Amino acid sequence: MRTDSIRRVVRSMRGYQPGEQPLRGDVIKLNTNENPYPPSPRVLKLLRSLDGSQLRLYPDPLGGRLCEAVARRHGCGSDEVVLGNGADDILAMCLRAFVERDGSVGYFEPSYSLYPVLAEIAEVEVRPVELGADFEWAMPEGYTASIFFMTNPNAPTGVLFPREQVREFCETFSGIVVIDQAYVEFAREDCVDLALELDNVIAVRTFSKAFSLAGIRLGYAVGPSELMRALIKVKDSYNVGRITQELGCAALEDVRYMEGNVERIRQTRARLGGELQRRGFRVWPSETNFLWVRPPEPGARRLYELLRDDGIYVRYFDARRTEDYLRISVGDDADMYALLGSLDRIMAGAGR
Ligand SMILES: Cc1ncc(COP(=O)(O)O)c(C=O)c1O
Repeated sequence: MRTDSIRRVVRSMRGYQPGEQPLRGDVIKLNTNENPYPPSPRVLKLLRSLDGSQLRLYPDPLGGRLCEAVARRHGCGSDEVVLGNGADDILAMCLRAFVERDGSVGYFEPSYSLYPVLAEIAEVEVRPVELGADFEWAMPEGYTASIFFMTNPNAPTGVLFPREQVREFCETFSGIVVIDQAYVEFAREDCVDLALELDNVIAVRTFSKAFSLAGIRLGYAVGPSELMRALIKVKDSYNVGRITQELGCAALEDVRYMEGNVERIRQTRARLGGELQRRGFRVWPSETNFLWVRPPEPGARRLYELLRDDGIYVRYFDARRTEDYLRISVGDDADMYALLGSLDRIMAGAGR
């Protein structure tokens, strides 16, 4: 075994831990914030009509047609857009493009657990910023880093940091701010305009959540064209496949379908939040497609395990700040009915 040929840091690192993707088909998956509804009928129709013979050809390296559609959506130029193999690809590109070997990576704690993993791979310093006791914004005076990854709305807490706070931070921060907006379609406001106005801000979006397209792997960055040119230099040449580019265009031709699903999910989110509160959970105000909750007895870890035994997967993060909480994706009505039924059975048992 040639383990001595593996970089020291890679040998010792744990790597990013994605939410479990069960092989069993009968599981209710509320652990990775996927959309419970299918993609737009336009996307599905196009998928059925695709000419497979074209797959012998490489895709457009920059995805020009899709960049133009994205640019129309945000009222910007296509030179202010870069596509990625999911938002994760964009995040990795940002680190490659903007962080020197002696640079540093900032992010809130807790937020998306991929950021420290990317920093670890690059062997650069991390400068996490602990959120307040209720997971609210808390930024130390004079804080610096080469790049700051800000999940907004935040994950796993679902909380939205207000625009003005974000703007003030971006205006004074000396490095690049990457606003990871994976869940922003579910929120009451977004701040993509900051990326088009300020020279140090990039907004990152994904088709995985609101557009119900996690399976095609598509995300993008919006920001100043100079920064976008830097991302293009460090990206894999053909990072977004032909089929993905075509399906992305079809999804953007039917934004209203996506918005309809977002509205349904918001309504389910409100109902589920109320039901959980009635059962003694503390529920954080969510601007995403998931709820961050602090369960009563038997506690987060045990509840996670018992729900799992019942075929319902939610997300448990076993770390100091997060061990008393669960993150529950908002599913469809049937999923939520099954979740609440299972919780009632478990909690009746716990009370005995
Ligand atoms: C905050 C955040 N950013 C990015 C991603 C990844 O998005 P994608 O599926 O487009 O790679 C996720 C996925 O869960 C996320 O929660």
